[in-house]
Amino acid sequence: MGLSIDLQPDDLCGCTSGLRYGECHKPIFDAPDGQMLAVAHRQYAAMWATNADRYKAQGLYAAQAQELATKGGIGRVLDIGCGRGHGLEALRMALPHGALLIGIDENSDCISAALTLLDAASPPHNRDRMKDELLKNGLYRSTYRPGELELQDGVTLIHSDLLVKDQPLQTLLDSVGQLDAITLWFAGVHKARSATELAKHFEVEGDADHRELVEDFTLQIGHERLRSGGWLQLVIRAGFQDAGMAQSEMGRIYGDWLQGQPFVLKTVTARPYDEPQQGQGISVKSLAAEVNQLPNFAISLLIQKV
Ligand SMILES: C[S@@+](CC[C@H](N)C(=O)[O-])C[C@H]1O[C@@H](n2cnc3c(N)ncnc32)[C@H](O)[C@@H]1O
Repeated sequence: MGLSIDLQPDDLCGCTSGLRYGECHKPIFDAPDGQMLAVAHRQYAAMWATNADRYKAQGLYAAQAQELATKGGIGRVLDIGCGRGHGLEALRMALPHGALLIGIDENSDCISAALTLLDAASPPHNRDRMKDELLKNGLYRSTYRPGELELQDGVTLIHSDLLVKDQPLQTLLDSVGQLDAITLWFAGVHKARSATELAKHFEVEGDADHRELVEDFTLQIGHERLRSGGWLQLVIRAGFQDAGMAQSEMGRIYGDWLQGQPFVLKTVTARPYDEPQQGQGISVKSLAAEVNQLPNFAISLLIQKV
């Protein structure tokens, strides 16, 4: 990754995280052979707790869930990249009793944390499903262990990578029927994703590329699995001068993205919020310093399937 040259643990990491090298990429570069993904997953899940707790304290998850719930008729939801479960927790509170919520995440440490937060049942087949193998070319390949998935009442959590074809997940979703909503809140991924065969295959160069890829896959699932009139809710973090600019700029970008698709961007809501302090949690930093000075907004896009 070219970020470690001559860095000492207390130096700022060479990436844009604002973290010390010793707490950022060093543990990943120092991971024993074959363990890099496991180390990166553990690190990401632990650090995301700081972000998620801070966002929750500012009421972001509750507001986003309420925004979706007020659309009405939301009984079956797929949460993509559910992380430590904070979004599902808010959705469970906001949606009518008996709503079926399915969360997927490629990080098994996040799934474990979500199971604890949500006090959800945990069939062994649904978790720790991916086997990571270090290939001769130095990249990691992740494949699913065989086994069917089990649907739970209330919340079902599944260790699955959106970018890796997952037949048991497709079978489970077939059994659920058409979805009322798909949520993708605060996309992001661990720091060793570039060391995967997937990143190479999809030519992912950085976090923004990865987010766009995940958004494209999410839209594809929307095509296949959302009922007509169902909702796709994306929430994206970005810096803007004010809420009006955040709304108009993101409305323009995502309006273009949806051109020619059977989806309509209905609302764009920009909520100001504070990130964890510099050096804590996982920050969204730009390479342009002036962008990092701007206020942060959590921008919620509600997109309806025609
Ligand atoms: C920034 S966190 C947000 C978590 C949660 N949505 C929240 O709002 O708290 C992004 C999550 O997406 C997961 N993720 C990233 N790429 C993924 C993929 N291709 N398939 C499944 N999960 C993914 C990451 O592991 C991480 O837990």
